[in-house]
Amino acid sequence: MRYDEVMDQKEMKALAGRTAVERLVKNGMKLGLGTGSTAIPAVSHVGLLIQQGKLSGIKAVATSFQTTMECEKWGIPLYTLNAKEIDGKLDLTIDGADEVDPRKFCIKGGGGALLLEKIIAYASASYAIVVDDSKLVEHLALKFPLPIEVIPAARVTAAKTLSSMGAEVTVREALRKAGPVITDNGNILLDVLFKEPVDPSILEAELNCIPGVVENGFFTRLPPSVFIGHSDGSVEIR
Ligand code: 5RP
Repeated sequence: MRYDEVMDQKEMKALAGRTAVERLVKNGMKLGLGTGSTAIPAVSHVGLLIQQGKLSGIKAVATSFQTTMECEKWGIPLYTLNAKEIDGKLDLTIDGADEVDPRKFCIKGGGGALLLEKIIAYASASYAIVVDDSKLVEHLALKFPLPIEVIPAARVTAAKTLSSMGAEVTVREALRKAGPVITDNGNILLDVLFKEPVDPSILEAELNCIPGVVENGFFTRLPPSVFIGHSDGSVEIR
């Protein structure tokens, strides 16, 4: 690409995903694979390298139905986190994010997969986040709402508690299906927008104390390498 050409967002995402795979994925790794339009090009790149015989011995764990289907398409060997071959430990997870702040804290769950994404990320020795530069923000959850996975019976009570904390709370509605989004785990999602900056590292633990909350989309406990795709075709690594 020439420098005066500008990449569109889809290309930036794909480039960030492919670069993370090229730099980080090694033969024989136990690999967590993320969800969303930036993570999926990383998954397909793993598949391509396996098909070309450039990568071998990969054991993958998928973070969602979407990722499972992409792995199946490419013949990437899939396991659960509980499988004997994985034994609850991964070498590396590559995933997307909805927002990344200067401390590399993230919001995830725009694609509704935050629960498995967090279990898999926190079971990984190292973690890489792939984004385009539109995801970089000063403070999390002021622009992009924080997704919180809640059991359906706690929809109203959890929403009231979150509203009393000064947040704007919306039940995520499905597209092309009447009613709420139902997650891969049979729960619903509350999308929570804060009016003032909050400390994600404190809230990550506190929000999970609200009865009925299964998990929230703040990811602060495992510092990731962040691969950022820019419109000039460069990928910055932080
Ligand atoms: C899914 C996620 C995604 O990684 C996040 O929503 C980013 O998605 P995209 O790369 O499509 O912008 O957390 O639950």
